[in-house]
Amino acid sequence: MPQFDNAQEVRSETSYLDFLRNCALDTAIDLPLDGGESPRAIKRRLTVAARELGLQLRHLRSDDPAIIRFHVTGSPGVARRTYRAGVVGLTGMGMRLLDHDPTAVLNTPMPHSHVGSYAVLPHTEVVGVCDLRPELLTAFREQWGHIFPRARTYTDYREMIDNENLDLLSVTTGDNAHTDIVIYGANHGVKGIACEKPLATTLDDATRMIQACEANGAIISVDHTRRWWTPYHAARKLIREGAIGKVRRIIAHMGGTRAMLFRNGTHLLDGVLFFAESDAEWVFAELDPEFADYFAYRGDGGKDPALDPSGSGYIHFRNGVRAFINASKGQTPGMYIQVIGETGEIDLVGDHVELRKDGAIHRPPLPSHRRTDVVALIDELTRTIEHGGDLIGSGQEARKVVEIIVAFLKSQEQGNARVNLPLPPGN
Ligand SMILES: NC(=O)c1ccc[n+]([C@@H]2O[C@H](COP(=O)([O-])OP(=O)(O)OC[C@H]3O[C@@H](n4cnc5c(N)ncnc54)[C@H](O)[C@@H]3O)[C@@H](O)[C@H]2O)c1
Repeated sequence: MPQFDNAQEVRSETSYLDFLRNCALDTAIDLPLDGGESPRAIKRRLTVAARELGLQLRHLRSDDPAIIRFHVTGSPGVARRTYRAGVVGLTGMGMRLLDHDPTAVLNTPMPHSHVGSYAVLPHTEVVGVCDLRPELLTAFREQWGHIFPRARTYTDYREMIDNENLDLLSVTTGDNAHTDIVIYGANHGVKGIACEKPLATTLDDATRMIQACEANGAIISVDHTRRWWTPYHAARKLIREGAIGKVRRIIAHMGGTRAMLFRNGTHLLDGVLFFAESDAEWVFAELDPEFADYFAYRGDGGKDPALDPSGSGYIHFRNGVRAFINASKGQTPGMYIQVIGETGEIDLVGDHVELRKDGAIHRPPLPSHRRTDVVALIDELTRTIEHGGDLIGSGQEARKVVEIIVAFLKSQEQGNARVNLPLPPGN
């Protein structure tokens, strides 16, 4: 836990948060002044920081003018701990800057990256970042140093994990470079892992990652981003409430040059699993002609579309749902999922959701306040570390996506034959 001896050390905004997170509750605290900011300014900062953390702070009278005395109480359930986070992989998903949403009140910053998400979650702090490319470490310091002044930079993720006593680890390296980092983190005390999608590019890698997490009591959440989108939850709520009757078919399409099964098709297949709410029993597939002999992943982590296949597939789920998948590069960009039930259907196009029933189209209201994407994922991860429960995007669920893609490749290898799941080890 960080210790502060005087006001000088709690000068930055983030340190005020840190300082309060680690103060004892329900007891008078003395903060010696250092001649820097005025007592009034410091009191104001403490009050603001307490409000952000959901704590009640009361200033007390101090007989010593060189000491600010106060008292903090907390609401039960408010996370006060500082979660120490490390991020491996510092490209866009790792540390893209906050964008500003011009339509939001006060021009609220909208995080899209892992570092950006830690920045807006008051109970987390980035204490270490790692990339093989030193120029990205410099860029981190330039772009995020004022928010995470104590974060240390590394080129070796093992060293970062060994040194930083991490609670949380974000793995935002390329598609085929998650496995060793996740396993090392799980084996070395990390409690929660936020892994980018796809979980892995072979089923054996995915299995080893899950096994390492389970063996060490670490939890892993995989960023199939749409799982944290309100339209997806609104649609699934309607389905669970019976709005379209029993689900019978799902049609899922993705077009455009980035419609690569591993890189982005993973979002499409994960969406299918999200709505099918069952395990795949068997599949068959036909890859696009240029991938006729593509039987195992040979991509470069997700950069070159020519190295990651597109194609069509069919999934038979244990609950009887049938899914028709189309990830095709030879078409205009876009993605939709159509869930067809006995009495209606739900269409998800981009982030719009429509219910079609009895010849009419309904658009369900979506909540206006949203905590989405990686912010929601990390917030859920910390809550689950503290209180237990199921994750929205668990590693086990993401492993099912990898298994289906690998089974599609098997089917291709076997002349588009039916492939039964689960697949045996060795895939
Ligand atoms: N959820 C989303 O919406 C979304 C969007 C874009 C990308 N992604 C995912 O984000 C991940 C990153 O994608 P990318 O194209 O930026 O990847 P990338 O291949 O560019 O790698 C990201 C960074 O990781 C670093 N790296 C690789 N191995 C490392 C190691 N062993 N130690 C330290 N650093 C290492 C690289 O130097 C690079 O800077 C992928 O899994 C991708 O699918 C997700």
